[in-house]
This record gives sequence, C-alpha cells and structure tokens, in this order.
Amino acid sequence: MSKKPAFGRREFLRAAAVAACVAGLSGPAFAQGGKIKVGLMLPYTGTYAQLGVAITNGFKLAVAENGGQLSGRELEYFVVDDESDPSKATDNANKLVTRDKVDVLIGTVHSGVEMGIVKVVRESGTLHINPNAGAGAATGALCAPNIFRTSFTNWQPAYPMGKVLADRGIKKVVTLTWKYGAGEEAIEGFKEGFTKAGGTVVKELFLPFPSVDFQPLLTEIASIKPDAVFVFFAGGGGVKLIKDWQAAGLRGKIPLYGSGFLTDGILDAVGNAAEGIETTLHYGDGIETPKNKTFRLNYAKTYKLQPDVYAVQGYDAGLLLAAGLKAVKGDISKKKEMIAAMEKAKIDSPRGVWTISKAHNPIQDIYLRKVVGKENRVIGIAQKALADPARGCKMN
Ligand code: PHB
Repeated sequence: MSKKPAFGRREFLRAAAVAACVAGLSGPAFAQGGKIKVGLMLPYTGTYAQLGVAITNGFKLAVAENGGQLSGRELEYFVVDDESDPSKATDNANKLVTRDKVDVLIGTVHSGVEMGIVKVVRESGTLHINPNAGAGAATGALCAPNIFRTSFTNWQPAYPMGKVLADRGIKKVVTLTWKYGAGEEAIEGFKEGFTKAGGTVVKELFLPFPSVDFQPLLTEIASIKPDAVFVFFAGGGGVKLIKDWQAAGLRGKIPLYGSGFLTDGILDAVGNAAEGIETTLHYGDGIETPKNKTFRLNYAKTYKLQPDVYAVQGYDAGLLLAAGLKAVKGDISKKKEMIAAMEKAKIDSPRGVWTISKAHNPIQDIYLRKVVGKENRVIGIAQKALADPARGCKMN
C-alpha cells in the first residue's frame, strides 16, 4: 500500500523520480570497473507505474541490506521505462542487452512486455529475473535455464480461489478482466479450480487493456445476477473498478472476488469502497514473521511508503541474485554455476520461505486475504506450497 493515492501520470512520474533518487539511480556517471550491470526494465508511467516503482524500491532495499554490494561487487543500473507497452518490448530489451550489455535483466510487470523480454533473453542467453509478470509461457513452453521468476504465474494465485468459492456454496460466477495475457490466464486459472470444485462460469467479460470503461459491463453483471464475480485487475485499473462497483450499487449485492492484485497497493486510493473484499495472493499484510516485520519496517523507513506485494517481489529478486552471486564469489561470468545455485536457493522472503520449481517459478503458499481498513489482512491459507503446472516446460 502506498501512503498517497498517486495514480495520475504526473504523480507516477514524480514517484518514479523520487524512487530513482532514493535508490541512487540518478546523479553523476557511475564508474565502470568491476561493477555488475543490472538492467531494470519496468513501467514507470501508465497504469502500472506504481508497481514498477515498488519493485525497484524492493530490489534496491535488498542490495542496501547487503551493504550496497553483492558478493563484493557494486551494481551499475541501466533503467528503461517500458510503459507496459508490448509493441516496444523487444526494442527496449535489446537496448539493455545489446547496447548496454547488462549482466542481468530485471523486469517486468506486464505479461505482454515479458513475452518480448523472453524472446530477447532466450536468444542472447542473458540472465533474466522476472519480478512480476505472470505470463505462463515464461516458465512454461518458453522456459529456459537463464529465465527465473520471483513472483507468480497468472494461474497461480487465481486457481485456489475456485475451491474457496465452491466451498462456500457459490455456484454461478461471472468473470471480468482486461483482454490480454495476464487477465486471460488468471481467469483460466480460476475457472480450472472452480469447475473442478463443481462451480460454473456463466459468462466471461473482457475489456481492452488498459481501458477502465466498466459501466456497460457492470450493467450486464447486474442483469445476470451471478452468485459472485471474479476479476483480475491491478494498479489504477483496480482502483477504478472498486470505485465504479460501489457507484453502480453492486457493493453488498454481488460479492466481488479476485486475485489479490485487485486490492494490493491501492487501499489508500479507494477509501472504504474496498472494505471486505476477499482475494487470494502469495503475500498479505500482517504476516507475523520476524522477516516480514523487519522488511516492512526497513521499507517504510527508507521510502516513507508501506510495501506491497510488488515491493516483496522486487526484494526477492535481489535475494535471488545475491544467492547466485554468492556461489560464484561475485564472478557473474560463471553463469552455469550461478544458475545451479539459484535453482537450489531457499528464499527467506517477507511472504514466507519459498523454493524454486524446475521451471524456475516460486513454489509458494497462496493466502486468503480480506480488506480490513487499510490492510489486505491474511485470514487463511487457500493452498499451501502451490507450484504452477508449468505446462510445456522442457528445461534443456
Ligand atoms: C501481468 O501483466 O502479468 C500482471 C500485471 C499486473 C499484476 C499482475 C500481473 O498485478
């Protein structure tokens, strides 16, 4: 959750600039010698801008907690604002890989942009750590030894909600999402879990990304009168949906559920319109572990913001990179050894300890959360140690 509801383009730009300064991205040119070149390809403008900032902050915090270096090597940052625009994705990734010759490419948020990164790093062999985008193919049909993810697949947090709803006697659900990879895969994941548990998805509604013209769809939902609605939205889109849901008079009439991106990082921006919304996700507020408490304290102290799931995923990207570099004493040219160490890593994350699947995606608990005040409070575990099925992954 951010302290301020900063969702305008100007506010996002300002937040990104502040984050960059705090994180040491700006200022005089960096010395070249011996530094590890880290490419950050993330959205710093648009609907997902705040997510990119949180990931950057989290990554930088992990490095700072390590004394500002990883295995004795300082980091040099190359930053690209990918604008969550898939049409620019391969060009942007190529800038980092070919022009800047980064040692590791960290990114991104949007699944469509991730597909461009995957294409580029599969060709170049550049080490890639994905701190958000859930595109199934990145750790599915297009999995590769140099591709790692510290977040989730789109399927992963949505699938367990199917059983949660069916167990409550909910039988007929309408789904609603943006029509692009992440939304479609999240809905597929939910549908798989829900139908397996006896439920029926009676209608799948879509709108183009990043449109927030929800009104006609909410009218349609009101006329269908389903038992519940399951959605995938995030960032500014989540804020608008929750506000429109209330304005349309659906709140209290038709229960609204989603994967937890719907309500993460946005509670200050929606006022009390989100109160009571339940979601499933691999992080939640109030996880009572020493690791989470320390993380939240340090993050808040450093950035004057409350962390969210995106900050955690960025932080864990730093931890995973640190684990790999430790095994090769900072010699990132020993890629095979480094990858082997990353595959064996146990990440002591604020979300709880997680390990890495054969396809290089986290095996992790999926929490059931409920919005209480300004918190996505954990109220249970929807599914323990859930691995993505990684359909089509043949790691060579
Ligand atoms: C995605 O495009 O994969 C995506 C974007 C934002 C989220 C989650 C997934 O919060």
